[in-house]
Amino acid sequence: MRRQWWHDKIAYQIYPKSFCDANGDGIGDLRGILSKLDYLKALGVDIIWISPCYPSPLADQGYDISDYYDIDPRFGTLADMDELITEAKRRDMHILLDLVVNHCSDEHIWFRRACEDPDGKYGRYFYIKDVGPDRALPCNWRSYFGGSVWEPLPGHPGKVYLHLFHKKQPDLNWENPEVREDVYKNINWWLDRGLSGFRIDAIINIKKALPFRDYPADREDGLSNLDAMLAEAKGIGSFLGEMRDRTFAPHDAFSVGEVLNEKDEELPDFIGENGYFSSMFDFAPSGFGASHLGWYNDVPVTPEDYKHCVFGAQQRVGNIGFLSNIIENHDRPRGVCHYLPPEGRTEAGKKCLAAAYFMLRGLPFIYQGQEIGMENIWVDGIDEVDDIAARDQYRVALDAGCTIEEAMDAVRRLSRDNARTPMQWNRSENAGFTVGVPWLRVNPNYVTINAESQQTDPGSLFHFYQKLIALRKDPKYKDTLVYGVTEPWLEDTENLMAYRRRGERELMVLVNFQSRLITAELPSNAKQVLLDNLDGCDIKGKCISLQGWQAVVLELEL
Ligand code: GLC
Ligand code: CA
Repeated sequence: MRRQWWHDKIAYQIYPKSFCDANGDGIGDLRGILSKLDYLKALGVDIIWISPCYPSPLADQGYDISDYYDIDPRFGTLADMDELITEAKRRDMHILLDLVVNHCSDEHIWFRRACEDPDGKYGRYFYIKDVGPDRALPCNWRSYFGGSVWEPLPGHPGKVYLHLFHKKQPDLNWENPEVREDVYKNINWWLDRGLSGFRIDAIINIKKALPFRDYPADREDGLSNLDAMLAEAKGIGSFLGEMRDRTFAPHDAFSVGEVLNEKDEELPDFIGENGYFSSMFDFAPSGFGASHLGWYNDVPVTPEDYKHCVFGAQQRVGNIGFLSNIIENHDRPRGVCHYLPPEGRTEAGKKCLAAAYFMLRGLPFIYQGQEIGMENIWVDGIDEVDDIAARDQYRVALDAGCTIEEAMDAVRRLSRDNARTPMQWNRSENAGFTVGVPWLRVNPNYVTINAESQQTDPGSLFHFYQKLIALRKDPKYKDTLVYGVTEPWLEDTENLMAYRRRGERELMVLVNFQSRLITAELPSNAKQVLLDNLDGCDIKGKCISLQGWQAVVLELEL
């Protein structure tokens, strides 16, 4: 396999609104990020992905872009971004931005022009249709954020436009070559500015199954979720291949796709040697237990489920390419609250989850605050919730007959706000995130969970992440950890997640996801313990005993 500059990198996701506020308006900003570059460098991060910071009405917190060539004044200026790129480079770090091109904002000039003249050039940038007799809509698809995907086109009562997400996020018509040209121009403009690549938002949605038609309804609203349509949509490859050839490939850029609903046989096309993307996220564990009916009906996840999902994905990808491994992101609850049972949400348990995913084949991504073990936030009622997805799911739950408490339970478990509360830097007011009024409530547990106290404590989760990163970068083990295969070990042993990484050398990761002691056999003798989240494990020949919530990485004798 041809070696690429990004194969051995560690990535970190910043949600800019909640990371660090430098000017006291309660909203995180680029100067705030600049002030934390040394913190990220000390952690060992190489690649920083910043969620959208372009001009936006923030209807979906920046995933609704009104100008692709600028920075929202709330986040800073283009000059700040240039400085950030330069300062990152000086520290041997790379910046990625978010590429949100399935849709733009309804306040983007393209959409405003489309409203002025639906039959003109910009009308063809979107999916605009006439309503049928009796105001019949073109099809019965349900948007990801609830309700029909069709919305009346402002100023044109007989017309509707398509939005797979929020109504303030009209879908761009990728079938139109002019749209694609505009997208490529924008990508190249950023890459020429020194950006190292992009995380690519909601990309699987750019190809629609056309012509529009109904699918079987799956809820009482008579609508159909988008999965059936996406499964039928053929030919996304020609768009993605063209985008790669015109933008990422000539710049040797890194790209990581938010690819959901992919088909197994497409993996080589997506992330193989000359794939459309460098990498894509492994969403197998986060998708586990999700119900078509809504969050209220989701099945809670156990460490066992987590293990089987991860091993399945590692198996499917094999050495085709590199997944990007995550335990959380800005769309998910905090990983430690989602995957660990309540008794495991301790320093030791959090280290177990960290070790379990960090040593897998693929690029480890850390979401801001994960390195200090930030947790979900408690909300009393729906009025305290900002996330538009959570607000929709609350209503879905009530419509399905849930009580308010049941609906709130689903919101508390899955709201995207859980990951969006301000980063907890220290014990000072507002966790050191802002001297102003934070745009979203700070989790009151910042008094005990914050970066400053962990940086000075060698036994902290922060230091454990540092060690995991250092291990991945150790010249002795790097090649094995980057290119070696993943082989599950004793997969059927409940609450044990163990796997070998085999390459030049042989490493073994063992994680005991429970409170009781466990004894397991090893495939060969342990040569040495490379990492241990507790104080020592008991190894006798080919046998190892792990205490409750213990995670170890061993080197095995070849
Ligand atoms: C992606 C983003 C999410 C956003 C959606 C629409 O899933 O991660 O935050 O709401 O796309 O852009
Ligand atoms: Ca600010």
